[in-house]
Amino acid sequence: MNTTIYARNIELMLNNVRITDVAPRDGLQAETVIVDTHAKAQLVKLVQATGVAEVEVSSFVSPKWIPQLGDATDLFDQIAKSKPEGLIYSALVPNEKGLDTAIEVNQSARRNHGIERLIDKVSVFTAASEGFAQKNTNASIEETLVRFEPVVARAHEHGMMVRGYISCIIQCPFDGYINPESVGDVMTRLISMGVDEIDLGDTIGAASPETIEMVVMEAIDRLDGESTNSFGDPTLTLHLHDTFGHAADCAKIAMELGVRSFDSSAGGLGGCPYASTPDSRAPGNISTLALVHAIHDSGLSTNIDQDALVNASKFASELI
Ligand code: HMG
Ligand code: MG
Repeated sequence: MNTTIYARNIELMLNNVRITDVAPRDGLQAETVIVDTHAKAQLVKLVQATGVAEVEVSSFVSPKWIPQLGDATDLFDQIAKSKPEGLIYSALVPNEKGLDTAIEVNQSARRNHGIERLIDKVSVFTAASEGFAQKNTNASIEETLVRFEPVVARAHEHGMMVRGYISCIIQCPFDGYINPESVGDVMTRLISMGVDEIDLGDTIGAASPETIEMVVMEAIDRLDGESTNSFGDPTLTLHLHDTFGHAADCAKIAMELGVRSFDSSAGGLGGCPYASTPDSRAPGNISTLALVHAIHDSGLSTNIDQDALVNASKFASELI
């Protein structure tokens, strides 16, 4: 029933699919080389020129855990002046310390560059599996959720939107297959603390069209038919990794069910370091190019400039 309401609402409102390019964050966080801040700034500029709605720029996490993104503050300073009107910049924050840094970045952008709000959205992240939550954040799912309560409230006080990521929605590299209900339970907690958007992560690219359908239906049910949030953006985003080449088919099924917001990365960069095992490296995100093709194949539209996307993808691939 909720699936029908969700699909009908979204059909009336959005035939245009919203894309967040996560290449600068998810794309670079697991690389063995640490990419120079100037090159990251260039990547952000090329990616934003493609016409995506949002760029996930970096993370305010412990540099001991993710040294690759230890320059997040400098990066934001370098791109501040070239932020286009209407584009959303977002960054991951695991706790209040990360949020404090995001707030400081916004304050200094206001002071130094006269920009009202540089970072529009912060993203908290947890998992549907205990094993992944521990490896990724050194905390149980419950502990991460407790950490997020003040983050969500304070981010809103500072005028920032909040995305709530749930990793391992299909399978966890440590705990195995995940029940869609476990994903739904974490979702319900995040919704009740006031996140503006739920982002479901198929962290290791294990989804098939059948399994993604089950979890998306569960998610739509938990959203109780609410397809857009108070900012007019979709409440549900899908974050697919493309390990076995199923991501585009999964995106198509999700679009049939009414999903109108996806993450992807220029050049297909990406992968979570804690999703890797000793034998295999975490796979990349679905490439923005592949996602755009899937969207057009589904009869829907995007605001993407194909030439700019080819430029950004080429630059991204050559970075690593
Ligand atoms: P911890 O070691 O338990 O934290 O890590 P702690 O509170 O004990 O602090 C340890 C040190 O980190 C201290 O410094 C803190 O100050 C510092 P010290 O006293 O040792 O010098 N610290 C921080 N520094 C900067 N910024 C912060 C911060 N917090 C603490 N925010 C913690 C816990 C959560 C911090 C750590 O586990 C962490 O940073 N994890 C991040 C892991 C990560 O970024 N993973 C990738 C993102 S998730 C992902 O990729 C999945 C996604 O793509 C979706 C999908 O595909 O599924 C989103
Ligand atoms: Mg990811």
